[in-house]
Amino acid sequence: MNLSSLTHPSSSHILLLFLSIATLQGLKGTLGACHVDDEAGLLGFKSGISQDPSGMLSSWKPGTDCCKWAGVECRIGNRVTTISLYGQPDKPNSFLSGTISPSLVKVQNIDGIYFQDLRNMTGTFPDLLFGLPKLQFVYIRNSKLSGPIPEKIGKLAQLGALSLGGNRFTGSIPNSIAELTQLTQLDLSQNLLTGTIPVGIQHLKSLDLLYLHHNQLSGPIPDFFSSFTELRILKISYNKFTGQIPPSISSLAPTMTYLELGHNSLTGKIPDFLGQFKKLDTLDLSSNRLSGTVPKSFANLTKIFNLDLSRNLLVDPFPLMNVKGIESLDLSYNRLHLNQIPPWVATSPIIYSLKLAGCGLKLNLNDWKPTETYFYDYIDLSDNEISGSPVSLLNRTDYLVGFWASNNQLKFDMGKLRIVKTLKHLDLSKNLVYGNVPKEVTGLEKLNVSSNHLCGQLPATKFPASSFVGNDCLCGPPLSPCKKV
Ligand SMILES: *[C@@H]1O[C@H](CO)[C@@H](O)[C@H](O)[C@H]1NC(C)=O
Ligand SMILES: *[C@@H]1O[C@H](CO)[C@@H](O)[C@H](O)[C@H]1NC(C)=O
Ligand SMILES: *[C@@H]1O[C@H](CO)[C@@H](O)[C@H](O)[C@H]1NC(C)=O
Ligand SMILES: *[C@@H]1O[C@H](CO)[C@@H](O)[C@H](O)[C@H]1NC(C)=O
Repeated sequence: MNLSSLTHPSSSHILLLFLSIATLQGLKGTLGACHVDDEAGLLGFKSGISQDPSGMLSSWKPGTDCCKWAGVECRIGNRVTTISLYGQPDKPNSFLSGTISPSLVKVQNIDGIYFQDLRNMTGTFPDLLFGLPKLQFVYIRNSKLSGPIPEKIGKLAQLGALSLGGNRFTGSIPNSIAELTQLTQLDLSQNLLTGTIPVGIQHLKSLDLLYLHHNQLSGPIPDFFSSFTELRILKISYNKFTGQIPPSISSLAPTMTYLELGHNSLTGKIPDFLGQFKKLDTLDLSSNRLSGTVPKSFANLTKIFNLDLSRNLLVDPFPLMNVKGIESLDLSYNRLHLNQIPPWVATSPIIYSLKLAGCGLKLNLNDWKPTETYFYDYIDLSDNEISGSPVSLLNRTDYLVGFWASNNQLKFDMGKLRIVKTLKHLDLSKNLVYGNVPKEVTGLEKLNVSSNHLCGQLPATKFPASSFVGNDCLCGPPLSPCKKV
């Protein structure tokens, strides 16, 4: 089979294509072409867009079949049922500016609106949504919509998913949200919402996912979780919640896979019942004021991949875990004295992030022999009492991105340290490192080797003097010139 006959249509194919376009245009308004109201509604939406630098809507032209426009889908005859417009976050030009035109209400059969990562859409909550009787899925994520979420939001009772994450909505979450009882997904994350979580959310019994993270919500986390039977993913980190982890969270034991309560002001102990969450793969309780010990029941969290308990007030002893493959662990800055890196860390075949800063580690790094080092991206062992050398460890971490080991007693020749191409952050400050600073450090984004015993001429770098001060005899910019011999 000749490949070029597939990619380059022959002239007879082109003729056929012309014929079918002509046929479609002849039948416009009847079979094939989209409904006139839908075309008018979509063109109204387009006229509300002031900037479309990547041409997301360039195929939206009057007189052509709107069912064939980019992002438009007609699943019921010639009626438009979904609009999906996605910006590409990694492309600077891939955004839309403007507002969501009320004329979109003419597209009466819409069941799904997916406006994701359009980044620059402004205006308030689009009230036209209340005029779309078949609407089930609303995803207007990562734009700049602002103002309050309307009190009448409960009128969208047929919604199965509501996602307004990553906008600039203000005010509190309306109580009427309790009327959206069909919701399986509710995402109001990354806005500027204030006030408490409405207790009525407990009526959303079908919720599978609840995202309220990165807002300014406050008060206690309501103790209403016994009403949820399907909830798998709960993210309410980065708010201002106070009080204890509510006891009713225990009823989520059979379903929960992802629990993120970090960066709040939660107090009290980590409840024992979390150890019964057999499916839990991610637990983030970081940056709260949780105290007491980590429950022994954590030994039963055998499926946990990501565990972040950092920056709390947790005390010894830390339980022995039975997890086979931890991927990411952060216990930094509690009141723990682990002495050794836990054995279940060293045996994990898939670990990529290990953060045990300020964990009271007392070991010689030469004696630490993890089974697998290949996947390591981040290692933070700062503020411990670690001696020895990281040379052989870093010789085996081919894709390391960050290594932080400030304020220890590491003693090795820096010239022998392998600095892999992926490495961006290296902090060895306040140790006993000697030798020269190798020229490979020029590729790093951040470097700190201050307060060691380094010597010799510095390679030309962009780093400030504070990256190098407090050594025995380093010289050259940004430090003082080397003495001529
Ligand atoms: C976003 O929208 C504003 C106002 O509509 C406009 O001034 C600005 O140039 C747009 N583009 C970007 C990338 O912010
Ligand atoms: C682990 O779970 C089993 C069965 O549910 C239970 O009997 C045991 O006490 C638990 N272990 C710990 C340390 O809590
Ligand atoms: C680093 O690894 C190379 C092989 O990849 C080996 O030849 C060398 O001896 C190792 N150096 C150290 C200090 O382990
Ligand atoms: C380097 O570390 C020292 C002490 O740990 C700190 O005071 C200094 O600000 C750091 N410099 C940079 C550039 O990070």
